[in-house]
Amino acid sequence: MHIIHKKGWEIPEREATPESVAFNRRAFIKASGLLGAGAIGAGWPKISLAATDPTASLYPAKRNEAFTLDRPLTPEQTASRYNNFYEFSLSKSAFMQAEALKTRPWTVKIDGLVEKPMELGIDDLIKAMPLEERLYRHRCVEAWSMTMPWTGFPLKKLVDYAKPLGSAKFVRFETFLDPKMAPGQRGFFPWPYVEALTMAEATNDLALMVTGAYGKPLANSFGAPLRLHTPWKYGFKSAKSIVKISFVEKRPETFWEASGPGEYGFWANVNPQVPHPRWSQASEEIIGTNDRKPTLLFNGYGEYVADLYKGLEKENLYI
Ligand code: MTE
Repeated sequence: MHIIHKKGWEIPEREATPESVAFNRRAFIKASGLLGAGAIGAGWPKISLAATDPTASLYPAKRNEAFTLDRPLTPEQTASRYNNFYEFSLSKSAFMQAEALKTRPWTVKIDGLVEKPMELGIDDLIKAMPLEERLYRHRCVEAWSMTMPWTGFPLKKLVDYAKPLGSAKFVRFETFLDPKMAPGQRGFFPWPYVEALTMAEATNDLALMVTGAYGKPLANSFGAPLRLHTPWKYGFKSAKSIVKISFVEKRPETFWEASGPGEYGFWANVNPQVPHPRWSQASEEIIGTNDRKPTLLFNGYGEYVADLYKGLEKENLYI
């Protein structure tokens, strides 16, 4: 049995979730059907390793050596069993419930301000894109971090493929909506999960559409079969299990902005000097270790992205 022992400096779970979540946690658990003996299952199920995934032969992809780390990779077992995936559970062990995620058939709609809206089968999309592996730091707003070997393709490639019109200012990402499959979606959040980037953020070299991790297709708990990862931003900007990508003119309201507007803003860049309203962002727990490290501005990726925010000083860029 895997038991998480809280350390003195860890943020109590109550503090690391939006106020509305903390207050309604019990209501959520009840709505999710997670109450009652055996609801979660007797043991720890195996994580799907996607052995039957139609794209399995594309992995491992060649590593892009431009992206290096200052710390060891988080072991796969640790990273894939410590997740945020509120569609399935508020618990960090959402990987168990996420086994119910059905990742095929899966289509991704591209619509909005594009030359021609389209709907792509996930396998066709993955096979059409140039896969590469990148080692990235991943910093959650809850003040924990991991180091991940993601596989995917630059979001910029997908933007080019979609041929957005000049009037497109933002890219909006939407997760599946299926309350039958995902018990969390029977709860009170503003489902489906929505995230968004400016066009400049989306076409930055770092923004990655992730299809795999640890040299394999993505495990369900990481947001299979397609998620976003923007390593200079807090983790919640990285929407999982995406079904729709829309190019729009008006800034979309995101899932976390709608859930906790005072705490989770649109920009959400990592800045250790700007505390979350309920805890410090100065340092981070490295998951799977007893280590805590100072957090870096833009999660250490300032050379790629700092310029994107020039002239936006009046915006709340860091929460
Ligand atoms: N995407 C969806 N659809 N649902 C979620 O609950 N959680 C976000 C983000 N993307 C979330 C999501 C948060 S808060 C974080 S920190 C990261 O996913 C966690 O990614 P990981 O579980 O792969 O570490």
